Amino acid sequence: MELFEAIRRRHSYRGPMSSEPVSREDLRQIVQAGMQAPSGRNAQTTEFVMIDDVGILAQLHALHPANKAMQQAPAMIACLVDRSPEKTYEGYDFQLEDCAAAVENMLLAITALGYASVWIDGWLRLQNREAVVAQLLRLPAGKKVQVLLPVGRPEEVWPQKERRPFNERAWFNSYRPDAPSCPEGD
Ligand SMILES: Cc1cc2nc3c(=O)[nH]c(=O)nc-3n(C[C@H](O)[C@H](O)[C@H](O)COP(=O)(O)O)c2cc1C
Repeated sequence: MELFEAIRRRHSYRGPMSSEPVSREDLRQIVQAGMQAPSGRNAQTTEFVMIDDVGILAQLHALHPANKAMQQAPAMIACLVDRSPEKTYEGYDFQLEDCAAAVENMLLAITALGYASVWIDGWLRLQNREAVVAQLLRLPAGKKVQVLLPVGRPEEVWPQKERRPFNERAWFNSYRPDAPSCPEGD
């Protein structure tokens, strides 16, 4: 699939998934796309666990009653970051940015291969869910799951979400150049 088509077609999918397995070759290709993403100081901080073990999947499926994709996905990818990230640049760390770049690359690869997914992140932050998933994946104490991606063939067609109009979000050379400027002294 052509890049801009994958960008246009990618969307969050939370519907039913086919039980058809995702091949390890496809999982590797998806994660390789994540590894190709840029990272602050090229620190390549994000690590990945590809999950296709039916026993582990069954336990993950049981965790999210509101999301069919999370209940049925025949594979998942967990994106890991450090609980105490190393400051790689002048006191700053970029591991969340690194992880986000990797996730978007993987979502595009997932779309290009005809699979569906959804960026599961906020959900992990509540009710100790991240710790439960970390334990299932036998993560060491210093690592945490930042994002989970269920991966599988979608069984429904889901619409794209509307985006705000281009001209309301982007401008050339200055911010909202057509807006009336603030009177001086205000
Ligand atoms: C940082 C981040 C966290 C997200 N966390 C969740 C989540 O926990 N659960 C979920 O169902 N979707 C989650 N999403 C998906 C967003 O809801 C989704 O991207 C947004 O509604 C736009 O829809 P689209 O992906 O179909 O374009 C998250 C997305 C991002 C970028």
